[in-house]
Amino acid sequence: MDNPNIVVIGATGTVGTIFLDLLEKRNFPIGNIKVCASPKSVGKKIRFNGLDLLVEEVTDDIFDDADFAFVSASTEVSRNIVPIAANRGSIVIDDSSAFRMQKNVPLVIPEVNANDLKNHENIVAIPNCSTTQMVMALYPLHVKNPIKRVVADTYQSVSGTGGNAMKELEQQTDQINNGLTTSPDVYPHEIGYNVIPHIEGFLEDGYTKEERKMVEETQKIMHADNLAVSATCVRVPVFVSHSESLHIEFSQSMEVDTVKELLSNFPGVSVIDNPEQNLYPLARNSAGSDEVYVGRIRKDISTPNGIAMWVVSDNLRKGAATNAIQIAEEILAQNLLHT
Ligand SMILES: NC(=O)c1ccc[n+]([C@@H]2O[C@H](COP(=O)([O-])OP(=O)(O)OC[C@H]3O[C@@H](n4cnc5c(N)ncnc54)[C@H](OP(=O)(O)O)[C@@H]3O)[C@@H](O)[C@H]2O)c1
Repeated sequence: MDNPNIVVIGATGTVGTIFLDLLEKRNFPIGNIKVCASPKSVGKKIRFNGLDLLVEEVTDDIFDDADFAFVSASTEVSRNIVPIAANRGSIVIDDSSAFRMQKNVPLVIPEVNANDLKNHENIVAIPNCSTTQMVMALYPLHVKNPIKRVVADTYQSVSGTGGNAMKELEQQTDQINNGLTTSPDVYPHEIGYNVIPHIEGFLEDGYTKEERKMVEETQKIMHADNLAVSATCVRVPVFVSHSESLHIEFSQSMEVDTVKELLSNFPGVSVIDNPEQNLYPLARNSAGSDEVYVGRIRKDISTPNGIAMWVVSDNLRKGAATNAIQIAEEILAQNLLHT
């Protein structure tokens, strides 16, 4: 077939910008490409593959000759436009949480459940960024020794909330350094020099929506309805990359060396684990990389079959843009366009 035509919605955003960069760098085959954003950006130019692309308005017609629509705007925007794009024949790869838990929408991390793409009905969702990196670290272990329970504590960067949150952290850090007062806007509290145990709204059981996503999305992607997950999601004053502390309980005991070997052999995962030399994954070092880094791998001394570990990944890449483009590459490789 001819190279696919592509529409990118949210092309001026934090994820969209990296997505376009990855399309270029990975030599993704492209027939023609259209870029869209909110009305305020219409008419701006985006440099892509040596050309100036004009940012266009999102209209229903824009999807008519698009094979792929990559949507990276907001949940609300996705709810409106994803069904339109899918009905007009585009395969939509959606970054938002709008359709993730819908039964007929595959929720995909290609290294883990690429087979689920076979059931797509023109909409594929990418998981929440904190879920993706956790599942990348859990799955290769789960296949060998089924996991019963995971306790996850996250340290999530502000880029997970988008460009406005990155500006807010920069501005507040400056204001605090200069003895000025801040007025939080994106978050309910100051994020400069702070740690906020609150990501998205609270639910009736006291968990937040973000924490609930880590439970439900993990079970769906891994096809493991009985896998128990309890998460505490925390926002920290870091610009890019999420870090996670995981305490995992397996069906049977597992040696640390086996865990390291399984993780090292899994595509997209790198083990950095030499604490004596102060070597373990760090947010700053992982920013800009497509890998999920795992370290501090040790026996969890509180339970016989437990392993504890530290997992770090660039939330804008494997947590969003990289995963999206890998899904499209997989759809092409499996010949699933227009099935
Ligand atoms: N950041 C992450 O780590 C991450 C990870 C996984 C998934 N996601 C999801 O990815 C999506 C985008 O996140 P982001 O961090 O890139 O946000 P962002 O930096 O705030 O960018 C939002 C993008 O959406 C565009 N947009 C806003 N309203 C629109 C509308 N009515 N029609 C068309 N485009 C519109 C914006 O255009 P303007 O520039 O014109 O405002 C901008 O291009 C969200 O659904 C988010 O939940 C993000």
